[in-house]
Amino acid sequence: MPELQVGVVGAGLLGSAHARNLDENPQTQVAAVCDLRLETAQAVAAPLGAQAYGDIQEMLQAHVLDLVVVATPDPYHREPSMAAMQAGVPNILQEKPLATTVEDALALYEAAEQRGTRFFINYANRTAPMDIATCYVIRQGLLGDVVYGESRLDDNISVPTRLWGERSQAWAAGSSTAHFLLSHVVDLLRWYLHPAEVQEVCAVKQERVLGFTPDLYDAQLLFDNGARIRVKAEWIKHMDELVEFYMAFSGSEGMLIYNKLAAFGARPSWRANLSQQLDTEALLAHQNALLEAGANLRALVHRPTPAAVGLATEGETARALESWDHSLGKSMALQDYIVDAILGDTLEPESWKGPGPLPTHHDGLLQSLVVSAIIRSADEGRVVALSELA
Ligand SMILES: NC(=O)c1ccc[n+]([C@@H]2O[C@H](COP(=O)([O-])OP(=O)(O)OC[C@H]3O[C@@H](n4cnc5c(N)ncnc54)[C@H](O)[C@@H]3O)[C@@H](O)[C@H]2O)c1
Repeated sequence: MPELQVGVVGAGLLGSAHARNLDENPQTQVAAVCDLRLETAQAVAAPLGAQAYGDIQEMLQAHVLDLVVVATPDPYHREPSMAAMQAGVPNILQEKPLATTVEDALALYEAAEQRGTRFFINYANRTAPMDIATCYVIRQGLLGDVVYGESRLDDNISVPTRLWGERSQAWAAGSSTAHFLLSHVVDLLRWYLHPAEVQEVCAVKQERVLGFTPDLYDAQLLFDNGARIRVKAEWIKHMDELVEFYMAFSGSEGMLIYNKLAAFGARPSWRANLSQQLDTEALLAHQNALLEAGANLRALVHRPTPAAVGLATEGETARALESWDHSLGKSMALQDYIVDAILGDTLEPESWKGPGPLPTHHDGLLQSLVVSAIIRSADEGRVVALSELA
């Protein structure tokens, strides 16, 4: 007997995936699906035996729901999440970003705090095994202090122009690469670098191709632990792949390179050259810990590469962890952990093996503030401090 009755609001690409995954979870039952386009709600609801609605208030009046999933387009998260909270729904799982404006983000955050709603955000990248490994390696200090990093998360130009059919331009115009793509990157960086937070932002954008939304944002984030990370996200790539995602970090004692979604000529790969302080026993202990967390990595003790040109000292060895063939994991995995978190009344259910608690409205607020700072910095051509925003 499923324990949680669920309503899904927004039955598009992500909402339909949420509904299907909830239907497969024996702990949940999709009771209702709501979409402004009633026929879209019906198409998702019918195979699941759920009721379809074109209006969220009707759905909330007809059902007592334990969980509402909100998967409306980026600028339209506030109204359905607020309506569900006001109706007394105790658990919300909302798509990223928390909001596209500071005002909406603060309103959602404050409502969740005041009502004591458990409010989760689907920062789905956090469940990929190599993201868990990246977070682990950085948090354990295995690179020393992170000094610099760079991230490219780019979509094929067909995303803003065609992904949502005839709605595509309006959809992309209501969002941007900052809200749609950098929301993921900013969340990952905050998670990896915890407890550091972004202090100030210096960003630029280009607006020469699409016309209805910026072509790209390129930003430097300064964290309060001194780390500087460059984050770039484009929507104008005429590439063969749908998405390219690359990250690298330079630490005071090591480095990490991560081709998560590889572009032409690259392979999915993950490699961390670790601190020389580490002995072999400690290296193997970290490998085991990562295996338990779901990341299957090779541990290497080897001659450092510069040995090839005679720059390494006699007998010097280096330690690394690497993976060449990794899966991204189950695409809706975070939803499964969130269901376990709700049922177990915890932010760290036993099923979740990654570092730290599952992402909530608190993470959503800070992510949305950083993205808002990126946009303001690019608009105004100046460095923006996070303290200016809230
Ligand atoms: N977590 C991830 O990895 C990930 C990946 C892609 C997209 N997303 C996010 O998921 C969200 C949805 O994206 P999508 O691609 O599924 O969009 P979509 O346009 O395919 O689906 C959104 C649906 O919401 C409906 N809708 C709009 N306003 C509504 C309202 N007030 N009440 C009810 N229904 C309403 C629309 O009719 C549409 O069917 C976005 O915020 C997006 O950024 C998350």
